[in-house]
Amino acid sequence: MEMINVALPKGRLGEKVYEMFEKSGFPCPSIKEPNRKLIFENKEAGVRYFWVKPSDVAIYVERGAADIGVAGKDILLEYEPDVYELLDLNLGKCRMAVAAKKDFRDDPNSTLRVATKFTNIASRYYADKCRDIDIIKLNGSIEIAPILGLSDVIVDIVETGKTLLENDLEPKETILPISARLIANKSSYKFKNELIERVREGLLRQVKTND
Ligand code: PRP
Repeated sequence: MEMINVALPKGRLGEKVYEMFEKSGFPCPSIKEPNRKLIFENKEAGVRYFWVKPSDVAIYVERGAADIGVAGKDILLEYEPDVYELLDLNLGKCRMAVAAKKDFRDDPNSTLRVATKFTNIASRYYADKCRDIDIIKLNGSIEIAPILGLSDVIVDIVETGKTLLENDLEPKETILPISARLIANKSSYKFKNELIERVREGLLRQVKTND
């Protein structure tokens, strides 16, 4: 039987995503056993799951190590992987935003220092506004940058807004809404089309019932 390889984002979002796959007719009970394995398969259901770092899902799918996967729209916009985006799962909803210290006032005549993990999204956003910026690429704890005077603003993901609030920052502008997307490798989509479409339709039913 043909198997479908699915890259799931490790973590809380991934567990919700797996539940959706399970209810869509692709169960794999061994995935729920308490261990540290990263690969699980159910031959009868024709599915193999693996847990990968959320930001790596698109790489596995783009290169065909996974046929399909679930990745945040933030990652898809930042890295623009050559994959098909098949469905908005309506999960992991948050937004990409510009945030700064509460008393920050933008001076349009000076170069804006922007700290972010998402350098492409931030560069495009300010290029569209014809705003001169200096990008400072960080890998985490972005919220610290304006507090220590490393940057004027940050471009980062805001979900509840709690991280900003607790660090005396506030959102200033929303760049984009973000949610989890089902993505497919382009050649897998061609050669395993029926199977991938079955997954997509099953997930679409779940999206509609979750609404
Ligand atoms: C993101 C983001 C913020 C936080 C926002 O980090 O970078 O730090 O979530 O969430 P909130 O608005 O609900 O407080 P994430 O947990 O994805 O991990 P990261 O530090 O690896 O970016």
